[in-house]
Amino acid sequence: MSIVFVTSEVSPWSKTGGLADVCGALPAALAEKGHRCMVVAPRYGYYEDALDTGVRTKVQCFGGSHEVGYFHHWTEEENVDYVFVDHPSYQRPGSIYGNVHGEYGDNQFRYTILCMAAIEAALQVPCGGAAYGDNVMFVCNDWHAALVPVYLAAKYRPGGVMLGARSILAVHNLRHQGVYPPTTFGDLGIDGQYYPALEYQYPEHLRQGSYEEEGRSVNHMKAGICCADRVVTVSPSYVGEIASPVGGWGMEWLLGGRSAKLTGVLNGISKTEWNPATDKLLPANYTSKDLSGKALCKASLQEELGLPVDPSIPVIAFIGRLDFQKGVDILAQIVPWITDNKCQLVMLGTGEPYLEDALRIAETNFRDQVRAWVGYDVAFSHRLTAGADILVMPSRFEPCGLNQMYAMAYGTIPVAHATGGLKDTVLSYDPFAGEGEELGTGWAFAEHNANAFIGALDCAVTTYREYPASFEKLQVSNMERDLSWSKAADEYAQIFRWAFMDLPQTG
Ligand code: ADP
Ligand code: GLC
Repeated sequence: MSIVFVTSEVSPWSKTGGLADVCGALPAALAEKGHRCMVVAPRYGYYEDALDTGVRTKVQCFGGSHEVGYFHHWTEEENVDYVFVDHPSYQRPGSIYGNVHGEYGDNQFRYTILCMAAIEAALQVPCGGAAYGDNVMFVCNDWHAALVPVYLAAKYRPGGVMLGARSILAVHNLRHQGVYPPTTFGDLGIDGQYYPALEYQYPEHLRQGSYEEEGRSVNHMKAGICCADRVVTVSPSYVGEIASPVGGWGMEWLLGGRSAKLTGVLNGISKTEWNPATDKLLPANYTSKDLSGKALCKASLQEELGLPVDPSIPVIAFIGRLDFQKGVDILAQIVPWITDNKCQLVMLGTGEPYLEDALRIAETNFRDQVRAWVGYDVAFSHRLTAGADILVMPSRFEPCGLNQMYAMAYGTIPVAHATGGLKDTVLSYDPFAGEGEELGTGWAFAEHNANAFIGALDCAVTTYREYPASFEKLQVSNMERDLSWSKAADEYAQIFRWAFMDLPQTG
């Protein structure tokens, strides 16, 4: 099959979260199984390893004709065509989506041209052979790519082009939907009969912007849900949540109506990037057969951070975006419990200023036990994952979550709120599980509050201190689990086959 991923971020070139990790690893896993894979993403920087293809095309939207170019990266090892769309609006000094003043005001424009350019990439960019052509599967990731199915239905198929193409909307996070004033519909260059697919009136409690208060909005994610041939989300539990008021963010009725075409596929992790046996970012490497390197990583982490170097003190880590989603507020609430219980806490994250301050305040109040690394640092995230004993993920909701799986691969035990993908991966430890029974992977708490969180964390800390052999059994079992992308790649390929067998969705 020929598969084209469309995404706003792809690791290692551009990343703010797990979407980049997925788009940097899943296509390679599909390519390994014999599929031809392209990833189309914006060219945010001057990537030295991506060469100008010389192909340029014009896309029509927002009242004009906009020229885009294409840069290409390919290695024999991965066998994936990474195609970067070149347009002046992507080259900015701030982060991918915004700067200190907030989100860029033209993000709707930037990602609309990405969608149009991605379809043209399949038709025009040769990628070392013939172009991908008409019979492709578009995997449209989150709202940034959600207009691809709409353009296929509204602009290409009526002209007899892309008749064999199909599209999957991959929902990584339903909270972010790409919501804009209804007046922008005219800018998208889509036939008026598709307006109902894009228009959405949120229930009152979910309205955030002034145009939504007036009642109507243009919603890119909603359009993708209506027009994609199938919808995939990143864990089985998240399927149930987004098709219900628990996590539907106003889309539950629509997703419920498409439940026969909605599937949850659990993300995997990259075993080349996240492997403690080979990770060059660690001070020492280790495997499940010999954890001595992990003890060195812990000592080195404590030393690096100026914390007392003591193997008997449990080191608890948090890594993530500092956002309402991640539940950092309940972590801040339990800092006194962590310090009273003589543990060390190391938090790495960046995001909402009030949460960044909460981290800094915790460090100031408990200088011998707490460290707050406010910033984005991939190398430190590896050292922290390896050096910690326990990783906490108190997320309010979590479509999948990757850090708990990185932690498992590194013998660091996850303690997490049982939601979305965390519910599917963080299974409460049963030290008495017999042969062939589920041992579990960590500790999960059901209610999202500080007391429930403390209850689960107490189990982890007590097991670490009082039952080290039992703790090590869990570490080894986690490290030996198959967390690779292989299974997910097979499941995606099956969904693609089903979609190719169906008639295309018309919106
Ligand atoms: P989300 O996509 O919701 O942010 P995931 O758990 O799926 O959550 O993925 C987060 C990714 O971003 C992981 O690779 C994680 O290591 C990385 N990450 C998050 N915050 C930081 C940070 N401050 N520094 C380095 N990496 C980070
Ligand atoms: C989103 C989700 C996260 C998921 C990631 C990759 O950003 O918040 O839970 O792991 O996408 O699918």
